[in-house]
Amino acid sequence: MLQITRGWWRALLGLRARRGRPRRRRRRHHVLGRSRPPPPPPPPPLLLLGGGAGHGGAAGPGAAAAAALLALFAAAAAGARSPGAARCEVAPGDRFDCGAERLLSRAGCEARGCCYAPVGPGRPTGGGGGPPWCFFPRGYRSYRAENLTATAGGYAALLRRCAATFLPGDVGTLRLDVALETRSRLRFTLRDPARQRYEVPLDTPPAGARAASTLYGLQFNEDPFGLVVYRESTGKVLLNTTVAPLFFADQFLQISTSLPSHFITGLGEHLTSLILDTAWTKITLWNRDMAPVPQVNLYGSHPFYLVMEDGGLAHGVFLLNSNAMDVVLQPSPALTWRTTGGILDFYVFLGPDPKSVVRQYLDVVGYPFMPPYWGLGFHLCRWGYSSTAITREVVINMTAARFPLDVQWNDLDYMDAKRDFTFNKKTFKDYPDMVRDFHQNGLRYIMIVDPGISSSGPPGTYKPYDDGLKRGVFIQNATGQPLIGKVWPGPTAYPDFTNPETREWWYDMVKEFHDQVPFDGMWIDMNEPSNFVEGSQDGCPSNNLEDPPYVPGVFGGRLQAGTICASSQQYLSSHYNLHSLYGLTEAIASHDALVRVRGKRPFVISRSTFAGHGRYAGHWTGDVWSNWEQLYYSIPEVLLFNLFGVPLVGADICGFVSDTTEELCVRWTQLGAFYPFMRNHNDHGNRPQEPYAFSPAAQNAMRKALYLRYSLLPYLYTLFHKAHSTGETVARPLFLEFPKDPNTWTVDHQLMWGAGLLITPVLEAGKTKVSGYFPAGTWYSLAGDSTIHSKGQWILLPAPLDTINVHVRAGHILPLQEPAFRTVESRKKGMTLTVALTTDGFARGDLFWDDGESLQTFENGDYTQILFLATHGAVLSELLRVNGQVDGLLLKAVTVLGVTSPPRQVLANGALVDDFSYRSDTQVLTIPVSLPMWEQFAITWS
Ligand code: GLC
Repeated sequence: MLQITRGWWRALLGLRARRGRPRRRRRRHHVLGRSRPPPPPPPPPLLLLGGGAGHGGAAGPGAAAAAALLALFAAAAAGARSPGAARCEVAPGDRFDCGAERLLSRAGCEARGCCYAPVGPGRPTGGGGGPPWCFFPRGYRSYRAENLTATAGGYAALLRRCAATFLPGDVGTLRLDVALETRSRLRFTLRDPARQRYEVPLDTPPAGARAASTLYGLQFNEDPFGLVVYRESTGKVLLNTTVAPLFFADQFLQISTSLPSHFITGLGEHLTSLILDTAWTKITLWNRDMAPVPQVNLYGSHPFYLVMEDGGLAHGVFLLNSNAMDVVLQPSPALTWRTTGGILDFYVFLGPDPKSVVRQYLDVVGYPFMPPYWGLGFHLCRWGYSSTAITREVVINMTAARFPLDVQWNDLDYMDAKRDFTFNKKTFKDYPDMVRDFHQNGLRYIMIVDPGISSSGPPGTYKPYDDGLKRGVFIQNATGQPLIGKVWPGPTAYPDFTNPETREWWYDMVKEFHDQVPFDGMWIDMNEPSNFVEGSQDGCPSNNLEDPPYVPGVFGGRLQAGTICASSQQYLSSHYNLHSLYGLTEAIASHDALVRVRGKRPFVISRSTFAGHGRYAGHWTGDVWSNWEQLYYSIPEVLLFNLFGVPLVGADICGFVSDTTEELCVRWTQLGAFYPFMRNHNDHGNRPQEPYAFSPAAQNAMRKALYLRYSLLPYLYTLFHKAHSTGETVARPLFLEFPKDPNTWTVDHQLMWGAGLLITPVLEAGKTKVSGYFPAGTWYSLAGDSTIHSKGQWILLPAPLDTINVHVRAGHILPLQEPAFRTVESRKKGMTLTVALTTDGFARGDLFWDDGESLQTFENGDYTQILFLATHGAVLSELLRVNGQVDGLLLKAVTVLGVTSPPRQVLANGALVDDFSYRSDTQVLTIPVSLPMWEQFAITWS
């Protein structure tokens, strides 16, 4: 055993001292006109514990905690296999499951060196409703660290397994790499140095030099191995893997950490509240076609969490791993990652505020794509628009009833025998003409595309399959043949989108179809991938990928349930490893195909997602039920996907499964007007739920909600630009804006758009009042008819059926535009500014504007950006950048909220405005103007 001696440790400290000590400035030597690169920055404070090593005097959690940990591990080293009674004295909430993969008797448990203590309401194994009966004693030894060394990027060490564990394929030696990537981002990986294992093929930032200074400090525990990450400024431990043993076997990798608070969010996709429950919750990640119900793995996997700390600080952790996994939350609070393959590849984001955590996460997985402007309009769909005549009629009805509509959709109905890239030559005979007519009418058109390619027709009758076979694009079964499952068209093969040839083939299919039917975007469904038979039509072979030693809590009990065989083969690896990336890889292929085919900004909405999805596509939340409960759940879903970097998200408005009701549909349309992606979609056979299908009163309420959305589109579009360019969220939980107010942390019945707008929908039947939380400050109703001065309190608001409460936060200026039936029209209408003054008369806002559909307008500088500032009785604009797109746009009015005394005079660019109006009861000043947006303006009142 290699002991880390005091001398060795001093060497490390010496390294730090030498590098870190300030020196007298020397004259720089210039080499070819460039100054020498600066010396590498010092490592951050680091403390090594345990195993007889000395320890440096680092800052951080302090000597007491360190001493306690040392005592703990000294006890551990005394006898790993026979836990004494003292080491088994662990409070139930702090117990880590020693029998996660199987039920253990007392004897079986103790044979593992674990403690056995049946507890009342608990269950024999933890992670599902109660404390485990068989749990690890304190200080259980699994790996010990050796050879900890400083590297260019941080540190490296070897970990040696202390003794064989109970897991097959246990890896004896691991390599730990810790990279201090940026001031606020730490990455650490655990790999098998002897064998290349599967790693998620996500394009992450390349390794660089160690960050000069960091918000985090580190401690390593040598034996048993553990890593502690703490926040430098507070000493708070954010991550501490010493709380339970590390396991790294071929198909079972487990690592636990303490959590600094119970306020943890993330870990999608599930039907859940925003803040997760730490009372023994098992969260399973394995993409699955499943009408959303709580506690079940759904369509997407996002192994990222964010935790709120005291004082409004926040950090996040991302495990870059795509294998089936469970994440167990327990009351300590603590969290255990338990995954079935790949490597352990963690990123820790130090914030220090929650917005920064999200941005730091998106720095790793990618910022969201910029949607076309029309994509933010209203989308209408249902399964059951069974002909072009019916689809056309829907559009006619929408127009006749004066509802805005930007995008008409079709479900499977357009297809010939439910096969992709075909259309029914009878019922959809004039399909290409219908789409062209929609275009004439200012509409866009999207249709569904499923990944399963029909495989049952005679050769030569269906090109996507014939061509795909020839080009070897399909996922293969154990015998090297295309795996055949079953989806809507019957037997189907599954394209392997990790294969470059498949992406080319997909492009060819998309292009050929687009040459016939000039669609504008793609709706990619069933891409978990879904399969109506387990595994394949011939079942699955029996092997360790189909039946791993540990099966996470997937719905259906087996990995192959509802999907294809785990051991089927893809270009990059086994489906076992790549399964949860299926939707992402299809989204990438579809995004790229659309760019090539249309030469315009692509629009792809996908059901299945994985970390990084937002770079390529949006998401709808699948087959939600038409009930009030699911109306509520759609808010945390939308908020979570914004934290995951997929801001273009929404649920099926009015619900998908089962009949909606008029009241539910009205309330859902009101909330849906504030989903970043707004689509009404219905299952076949249900009662109609298009907005025009309801009573005049209900239609009125829906029309109002739609007009409201359309008038806010310039603001929404600007938010999307910020998401795309700087990694912000669009729809936003309150805690992101008010992290210092802990009352906001759990709020998930309300949502914000950006920093300036708070939406408080009605989520219950029969209610005409709604209670909402208003953080301290001034909030104006968007309509300007009421003002709230909140101390940070819950407020009961009137909410008649035709009203959704929307409040503007003092200090913000929102750009609005007169609504129209299509965005192509609304984009030309007059703009207005809503200026919400703080009590000291200040506000600011901005507008991003471009042609709404060209590729890379921001990247190419082909856009207009205007800042608005209100202060001391004036609203000014400042043009940061102007291009031709803004020509012709006129500012028609400015509404100033919070003007405390009636103005005597209003000037616009120095000219008298005599038709302004002021209401002293509401303190609203309305100033009609007609000013070109492409020129700076100044409007003053006094
Ligand atoms: C899936 C989709 C749903 C669609 C249906 C038919 O259930 O989630 O939106 O309508 O398939 O294509």
